[in-house]
Amino acid sequence: MIEKKVVLSGIRATGSLHLGNYLGAMKYFVKLSKDEKNSCYFFIANLHTLTTRINPDDILRDLKEIVLTYISIGIDPESSVIFAQSSVPETSELNWLLACLTSVAELEKMPHFKEKKDMKEILHETVNVGLLTYPVLMAADILGPLANKVPVGEDQHPHVELARDLARRFNALYGETFPVPELLEGEAIRVPGLDGKGKMGKSNQNTIDLMDSPEEVLKKIGKAVTDTARVRKSDAGNPLNCGLYTLHQLLSSDGELMEVYAGCTSAQMGCVDCKKILVENINQLLAPIQVKRFELNEKGSKYALEVLHEGGKRARKKIVATVENVKEKMGVPLY
Ligand code: TYM
Repeated sequence: MIEKKVVLSGIRATGSLHLGNYLGAMKYFVKLSKDEKNSCYFFIANLHTLTTRINPDDILRDLKEIVLTYISIGIDPESSVIFAQSSVPETSELNWLLACLTSVAELEKMPHFKEKKDMKEILHETVNVGLLTYPVLMAADILGPLANKVPVGEDQHPHVELARDLARRFNALYGETFPVPELLEGEAIRVPGLDGKGKMGKSNQNTIDLMDSPEEVLKKIGKAVTDTARVRKSDAGNPLNCGLYTLHQLLSSDGELMEVYAGCTSAQMGCVDCKKILVENINQLLAPIQVKRFELNEKGSKYALEVLHEGGKRARKKIVATVENVKEKMGVPLY
């Protein structure tokens, strides 16, 4: 029998999920979960959420919504394990064990920490320790179920690199224990925001949310920033300076891409027409997800909690075995 590859990934419970989450990561969750050679674990990183979010009701609401969204995009909770990070306390224990193998310098240079710290240089004291050690908990999430593959967007790659380093470090010190987890094959995906300023992100208010209605999508794309150097339709544009072209690359057919590229660079097609094609393709992607999500309304949050309960038991079984082994090897078993 061929041993299955363990796939693991997670999302924080911090508000509506958006196209960045979907095109950068969730799309691959579905693809990988349909491959029988994989054993998949998808979780909600509600402990990571605590580094920024403090309202317990919001965390609980978003947690359940992510479970229902996972199912709506096509993840089957029977064949894949869907669980909450907080259902597996042993992950937090592994976090400590791995923290003792990680240097402060490694964590201080992680982009997510540097950004926050730089932003709040004067308020350095207010940056919480959770934010600094965030990547260690993430390594524990990954190494706990002995993950082989970790589908995440580009912003999370440095964190997965740390998990890879820690796997190698642990294996060198204590003997072969962890597989070295791999990232997505091919390119790292970074979905741009609609404001033309950076990546699409929950806190940047520059998103298309997975539950946005066709009218909302039309409105948001209508206002989205394109190549700022193209002032009039008669000016030739540069698609490589336009975030919406990146969205086209992720969503549109080859024929549409060629049409948009040629039309923009020759000033034959204006941004309005280019946006129309994109709006249609976004709505086509979102429609079946929204239909499924609407159907799940009937089962509602009770169903989400049942899925989490079952998933939590399955994930915990796998992760407890790793953590016991790790503690044994490090000389700190349960007496
Ligand atoms: P989170 O909640 O910020 O994002 C969830 C996933 O969506 C991807 N993503 C994007 N990809 C491309 N372009 C974008 N604009 C974009 N915005 C978000 C993220 O890369 C991510 O894959 N730390 C993680 C959660 C986590 C985790 C883990 C993931 C905790 N432990 C272990 C994998 C393995 C996070 O904050 O994701």
